[in-house]
Amino acid sequence: MKVVVVGSGGREHAIAWKLLDSPRVTQVYCLPGNGGTACLEGCENVAIAATDLTGIGDFAKENHVDLVVVGPEAPLAAGLADYLQTLDIPVFGPSQAGAKIEASKAWAKALMEAAQIPTAKAAVFDTYEAAACYVQTQGAPIVVKADGLAAGKGVTVATTEAEAIAALERIFGGEFGTAGQQVVIESVLEGQEVSVLAVTDGKTIVPLLPAQDHKRVGEGDTGPNTGGMGVYAPVPWVTPELMQRIQQTILEPALGALQDRGIQYCGVLYAGLMVTPAGDPYVVEFNCRFGDPETQVVLPLLETPLIEVLSACVEGRLASLGALQWRNAVALSVVLAAGGYPGSYRKGDLIQGIPDAMAQGVLVFHAGTRWQDGQWYTHGGRVLNVTALAPDFATAQAKAYAGVQAIQFADCYYRRDIGYRILKSSAHKGEYNS
Ligand code: AMP
Ligand code: GLY
Repeated sequence: MKVVVVGSGGREHAIAWKLLDSPRVTQVYCLPGNGGTACLEGCENVAIAATDLTGIGDFAKENHVDLVVVGPEAPLAAGLADYLQTLDIPVFGPSQAGAKIEASKAWAKALMEAAQIPTAKAAVFDTYEAAACYVQTQGAPIVVKADGLAAGKGVTVATTEAEAIAALERIFGGEFGTAGQQVVIESVLEGQEVSVLAVTDGKTIVPLLPAQDHKRVGEGDTGPNTGGMGVYAPVPWVTPELMQRIQQTILEPALGALQDRGIQYCGVLYAGLMVTPAGDPYVVEFNCRFGDPETQVVLPLLETPLIEVLSACVEGRLASLGALQWRNAVALSVVLAAGGYPGSYRKGDLIQGIPDAMAQGVLVFHAGTRWQDGQWYTHGGRVLNVTALAPDFATAQAKAYAGVQAIQFADCYYRRDIGYRILKSSAHKGEYNS
């Protein structure tokens, strides 16, 4: 099979790598890919942007591609899956209508309400005045969200009214463009966050292993939010009973509500959840795609060939695939970022030591790199994901950080405490300081 993977991050590197695990996959094309996918055997980068719908369609047609797997949300929200379907190209990723579950928080909230899915109480506004008035009646703490896609930057968990009002000013002031034409204002949920990515063919929905990421840039989960600085899977406190509850009260009702709207959803439905201290799961957000960096720990644990899972979804036969098989191991991944991220950062620094790290048995997924003249260079805020598999988290953590130590580039930043929430070790106190 020839497969196109759309995107250029660590998630897409992990998807391409995992697809090539199966002899059924003879060729992967990454559009546009990165320095990691450029060097993956069986994979070729093609310089077509992830949002170039016609470019992707033309390429897939001309090269007789059997399946297109879409990594990021933007092309899905722009209608890539719909377009490929008009060309009779099988695609893993929902239609534009399905992608609304991520692309419009107001739409997702209405769907959750209709399906009685547990989520924070919310109200939607399309003027600053009405929104500000609501904030004043509700008081703080309160959560303010731009409705549309804002690359993870449209959410403010405000601890004071003034902070919430300032967020409204930014949103209605145009900081997020059309994504800020509406706001969702909701109550604060307390608890622990967990990501449950589920695959679906539109009829059956099957969760993957739960994962937990570290979103804040600083150690001890402090500082600004990022796309994720580290992640691990599975999550020890997410019991089979809790997973069953998530399946019954969140995933299945969400799929049912999509069906009620006439949406045949094929792809990943990603539930970002808050589990309250009482143990009740609430939806914080839905995404219409694989998570990044969650994919970089979840896929390495998957024993069932990924191509079998994705093909079963695309062909509408997920129910007969049988239970997914998982390795009897855990995975932990550390993100190496360019200094300054999530603010401004440098690009173009030489990266050294990746083969040494890999020789130690870690997986190195490239998130923001470029391959040029036989060398890798930094090319994004998040540069590399160093993933270690081990029988337990303490070993996985030590192994991942040993791999990290082998890699060098100017201004490299990473958190030294990934996994601390589930480990009793003192790693976050500087045990891994280089
Ligand atoms: P979202 O883009 O909706 O996932 O929001 C980004 C982050 O903001 C989430 O991962 C949470 O950490 C936080 N967040 C969003 N909504 C809430 C909420 N209702 N209560 C508490 N935290 C929230
Ligand atoms: N890890 C968060 C996301 O993929 O949205």
